[in-house]
Parts: sequence; C-alpha cells; structure tokens
Amino acid sequence: MAKNQLLSVVFEGEEIGLLGYDENLKKSSFQYNPTFLKTNKWLNLFPLIIRRIQPTQVFSQFHSDIFRGLPPLFADSLPDMFGNIIFKTWMETTAKDFESISVLEQLAYIGNRGMGALEYHPSKKVPLDATIDISEMADLVKQVLEQKQSTFADSMNHAALLTIFKIGSSAGGMRPKILVSENIATGAIVPGDLLTDIYHRHYLVKLDIGDQKGYSREVVEYCYWLAAKSVGIDMMDAKLIDNKHFATLRFDRMNGSKNHTLTVSGLTGLDYTKPADSAYENIFDLMLFLKCPHKDVEQLFRRMVFNLVFANHDDHLKNHSFVYNSDTDAWRLGPAYDLTYSLNPELNFLNHSRALSVNGKRVDILWKDVEAVAKKYAVKQYKKVIQEIQDTIPFFVKSALSHGVPKRIVDLMQRRMMG
Ligand SMILES: Nc1ncnc2c1ncn2[C@@H]1O[C@H](COP(=O)(O)OP(=O)(O)OP(=O)(O)O)[C@@H](O)[C@H]1O
Ligand SMILES: [Mg+2]
Repeated sequence: MAKNQLLSVVFEGEEIGLLGYDENLKKSSFQYNPTFLKTNKWLNLFPLIIRRIQPTQVFSQFHSDIFRGLPPLFADSLPDMFGNIIFKTWMETTAKDFESISVLEQLAYIGNRGMGALEYHPSKKVPLDATIDISEMADLVKQVLEQKQSTFADSMNHAALLTIFKIGSSAGGMRPKILVSENIATGAIVPGDLLTDIYHRHYLVKLDIGDQKGYSREVVEYCYWLAAKSVGIDMMDAKLIDNKHFATLRFDRMNGSKNHTLTVSGLTGLDYTKPADSAYENIFDLMLFLKCPHKDVEQLFRRMVFNLVFANHDDHLKNHSFVYNSDTDAWRLGPAYDLTYSLNPELNFLNHSRALSVNGKRVDILWKDVEAVAKKYAVKQYKKVIQEIQDTIPFFVKSALSHGVPKRIVDLMQRRMMG
C-alpha cells in the first residue's frame, strides 16, 4: 500500500467515510461519505472527536504511541502491546519489516477482523483455516513471547504462526489472548477472527502461559468474575477452558451480528496512560453526555467500588467500554471486563496508585471520597453497595482456594482488599 493511500471505513456494510494518514506531515484525515451522511446516523456513531461533516477533517493532535496519529475512535481498532508483538513476529516470517509498515497498512491487515463493528477496506487478504487447538496456541504464544534470538521467526511453524496472527493480533491489552468461536452444536473451536453467526459462541480467551509462579492469573480472573457477577456487576458469561484459560463471551459479537463498541479512550481521545486524563469522574461525565440511563451511572459506581474493595488498580480508560445500539441510535455502558487482581501479590508495594482517580485521589482513597462521587452523580444507597461488595470478599477467597490458588497467594491478595 502506498504510504498516503486512503482506507474506506465500513459500518454495517456501508462506507461511512475515508480515513487517510500523511506519513510526511504526521497528520490523519477523515471525510464522511455523502451518502452515509444522508442516513443521519453519523451524528451519534462518533459522538465526539469527528463532529464536522465537511470538508475533510484533519487531526494532528494524536501523535502519541497510544493513538499513533489516528483519530482515537480508529486507533481503538489497533492492538496494544501483546497484539503488536504477534503482528511483528508474523511480519518477520513473511520477511516484512514491522517498523516500515504504516499505521493504515496495519489497519488494512485488521480489515474486517477487528474488535467492534468498524471495518477497513481494501483489507489485506489473509488465508482461511479450520479448527484450532487452544493448548497448542498457548504453547506457541509462550514461545513467541519468550523469543530471544532474531532468527526465531524463521524456525517457527508458519501455518501455526499465521493462525496466531489472525486470532491474536486484533484485540487490545497487554496479556496474551486469542479470539475463537465455539460451534454450539458440536463444541468444535475454530478461529474467531471472521465468523459472526448464531451457530457459534464468540469468545475472547485470555491464555494461561504459565508465567506466574505457583498460580494462574487467568484462574484468579475467573474467580474475580464469579465474585463480580455475584454482586451485580454486569459481565458477559465466562468459563475456564482446560481449567486454566479464561474465556469470556464477546459483547462486540452477539446474536450473529457485530456491535459497534469503543473504549473510553477511543470515544473521547483521553489518553489512558496519562494521569491527568484518568479519573472515574471523566467516565461518569461521558455517561451524562451520552445520555445513558441512570442505571448505567449506578452500574459504573458499583464497578468503581468493586475495583477499590478488590484492589484492582488496573482500572484504566481502555478497561471501560461503551456499546452503540443501532436500533435505538444510543450508547450504553458496556459489560465490565478485565476485573482482576492487577498487582504482583509477591511484591510488597507500599502504596501503589490506581489508574483512575476517585475524587482526585489515586492513593489513600477514603470512603468519604467515594461518598463525594456518589453524591455528585446522585447514586442512591451507596452505603449498601459498598457493604454488599465488602461482604463478597469471603466468597472470592473460598472460590480462589477451591480453584487451586495457593492460600499464601490468596492471603497476600486479601491483605490489599478493603474489607
Ligand atoms: N468480553 C469482551 N467482549 C468484547 N471485547 C472485550 C471483551 N473483553 C475484553 N475486550 C476488549 O479487549 C481488550 C483487551 O481485553 P483485556 O482488557 O481483558 O485484556 P488485558 O490484556 O488484560 O488488558 P490490560 O492491558 O488492560 O491488562 C479490552 O480493552 C476490550 O477492548
Ligand atoms: Mg485491559
């Protein structure tokens, strides 16, 4: 692809506009398709950032590594650290230099395989394949992450690496993960990059590659999921595969169709790595702006308290998403995900600050700070919510122990919880 070529952005089978990136000027551009504008959907699909209809809008403010020059709502389709490692390794097997691939070219590889509902055309053709074996995929991902020598990629099984590339390089986040689909009738697991139908369940699987000493992070995440579900946090169904990989149903693939989803970073352009941008209040304000119902406000409050009580410090702006409903032309808070014990339990952080501030504080947050947020956003019965979540700690402890997490690790985790 020529460096300055345009990509067509497609939503529900219709071109919504053209995305460009000028490598020399380091500027991106977006121009709505006039036919799409007539549908009036444009107003709400991207409620922030792209606001003008015409002429071509130019963006020069998003250079950071987080957005890579693109308007954040498109940067949201790019992978983060884990996906980029997989991307780079696969590129090396095909003798391409990852550094020389433009951001638009990477989006073209994502094509119609990305998270959410946005598609990029013309997409790069990637061959199809059949069934997959999750433990084989986990072993391969482990090898890719542990690779030391630069000739590593040459020695890999090309077909297996291609599969990993297809199903492991589009989701965001740091941890190893793949997208798979499970045939509801037969249980067969197939690559989940392209399928969207009612005969399959579409999962995001966080792989246990045995990188934690003595326990599985993914099993801990499953026990967090059990605790969160039990206390009214809205999450997709989940299960453990082979007793160790954490599989969660995708909220961007439901009932045979793709849902348009964006993270808070993608919706707003707030940088999830910047403390100045990272506050729970920014998400509450976004919800008011999007006119989400008050029960979403109550739900976010519950998640905030859960993250405080259960010491999940990694509650950053890409760990909260919104889902657009085409029928109602409205945005709602999406299901919660990535709720887990985010620190290394073996390390003794004295005072580790959390990603999102509460009432302006990242450390030493007190219940009166939580109360200030509850009052600001008219959350009812907030004391009851706090109590219910604190009362869930023993359930978590019991679940973790019964799933084989060593008592020593569970004790270390519990010491950080706000019981
Ligand atoms: N159930 C789901 N349905 C759809 N998208 C999801 C789901 N769970 C996670 N995602 C998307 O995939 C991304 C990565 O997932 P997740 O946050 O669980 O991974 P992670 O590697 O642990 O992240 P981090 O880097 O924050 O630790 C999320 O930011 C979100 O956009
Ligand atoms: Mg995450």
